[in-house]
Amino acid sequence: MPRDNSSGPPRRPGQRGKKPGGKRFGATRAGAKRGRRPPGDDRGPRDRDKRAPPRRGEKKAWLPDFPATMPTREVAVRAVLAVLEGRSLDQVVRPLRQRPDRARLFAMIYGTVREYFVLKKIVERVADRSIPDLEITATLVVSAYQLLHMRQAPHAIVDAAVDIARHLGKASASGFVNAVLRRVEPIDARPEDHYPGWLTKRLTKHFAGETASILDVSQSRAPLVLRVNTTKITPADYRAMLDEQSIGHATSLLDETIILESPQPAEDLPGYTDGAFAVQDAAAQLVVEVVAAKPGERILDMCAAPGGKTFHLAERLGDARSIVSVDKDKPQLDFARREANRLGHDATFVEADAMSLDWWDQEPFDRILVDAPCSGTGTLRRHPDIKLNRRPSDIETFAERQYELLRSVWRTLRPGGTLIYTTCSILPEENDDVVSRFLETEAHAISVPILARWGRASAHGRLHLPVRDGGDGFYYARIGKR
Ligand SMILES: C[S@@+](CC[C@H](N)C(=O)[O-])C[C@H]1O[C@@H](n2cnc3c(N)ncnc32)[C@H](O)[C@@H]1O
Repeated sequence: MPRDNSSGPPRRPGQRGKKPGGKRFGATRAGAKRGRRPPGDDRGPRDRDKRAPPRRGEKKAWLPDFPATMPTREVAVRAVLAVLEGRSLDQVVRPLRQRPDRARLFAMIYGTVREYFVLKKIVERVADRSIPDLEITATLVVSAYQLLHMRQAPHAIVDAAVDIARHLGKASASGFVNAVLRRVEPIDARPEDHYPGWLTKRLTKHFAGETASILDVSQSRAPLVLRVNTTKITPADYRAMLDEQSIGHATSLLDETIILESPQPAEDLPGYTDGAFAVQDAAAQLVVEVVAAKPGERILDMCAAPGGKTFHLAERLGDARSIVSVDKDKPQLDFARREANRLGHDATFVEADAMSLDWWDQEPFDRILVDAPCSGTGTLRRHPDIKLNRRPSDIETFAERQYELLRSVWRTLRPGGTLIYTTCSILPEENDDVVSRFLETEAHAISVPILARWGRASAHGRLHLPVRDGGDGFYYARIGKR
């Protein structure tokens, strides 16, 4: 799941891009043509394009529409274009989940975004001039992905690309699109070719020789991981249900964690409607072990939407009534409430901003989980758009927000209580560094070691690096209040 939900602008009624065939579509257009970048320039598309949607608090661009009749390839191009313009992939694909061509469409969109840096290099190599704009970039990379990674007739892909360029108001570039796509050939890519240079540099600074393996795993397909809802069924009985339908699965560190051998829509799995399981990454499930909540404790789950960890805590405790779950994102809270209904949990979700304590009834908490918004660098294989749209300065911005969030929420913890801080970033700037700064400024805060058979100890907590066919990258720290 996305770690920072601040990126999604609401669409104002009546504010839409023009329909296919029109000149403009979706997001605002204000930029000039971009020239060819020097070799080795690996900045993300937003860095190159001044039309990228503005940051928080600024006026934002709108999401594209996808009429049901729009052909799959064109939807894929428009979706990738929206991502290149700075929208989050999750947000862009949300309205596409019900389409009958979903499997092929998602393969194109996710595949292109995952392979973006290499596809861009490939089309730039065979182009006789610079790629004029993001519309043509999106058309070329999505089509190159189909040519190189999907078994489809090349002439159909090229013809469709020419039509799409026209629909995007770029008829003058149709000859260019045709010529480039006819010359597309695979190249030998190294793991680092799939990432922006700033990220590879940061990872190398922190993980040295392990960087190649982190990049390799982060480029692999993420597994579908389930958490058995133990208030409804035992993990053994649920595994038997999967066996009955010949659905291959593997075990993980926790009994309730099931890793499926091949991803498929969760709704098609046995027991979905009855709430027998939820989808949740394996490393995210380890958070309950770190929280180690006990029956009778009053628990705060801060930054709780869409509720994954609240529900897991509830399942471990046997009920959700001792948990107060707070988040500021209304749509995600609505989703959490629907999910609580499906899973049968009596959870309390409060819509509030962690930076103010207006929502708090002054009754201190025994245990607090802060699952902070972060850069998501541990989840690149689930959110490949992070590679395209995150910028180095975002890391410092996240770190500042995380520190401020901890300081605010700390006031609601009783003396003797424990706060658990987690992120799905693997960068120390958002993890140990934030905790260090917090420990230095809060006189009553002490670092409490986490003893576990997974991950590795870090200065103040534990780090789980992403594992192929296993859990995402995650950080966990335990802070006691004297
Ligand atoms: C990593 S996600 C939480 C995932 C959730 N704990 C789960 O397990 O499903 C981070 C959440 O932080 C929330 N958030 C960010 N800033 C916040 C703030 N100032 N106050 C409350 N919630 C915030 C976002 O809305 C987002 O839902």
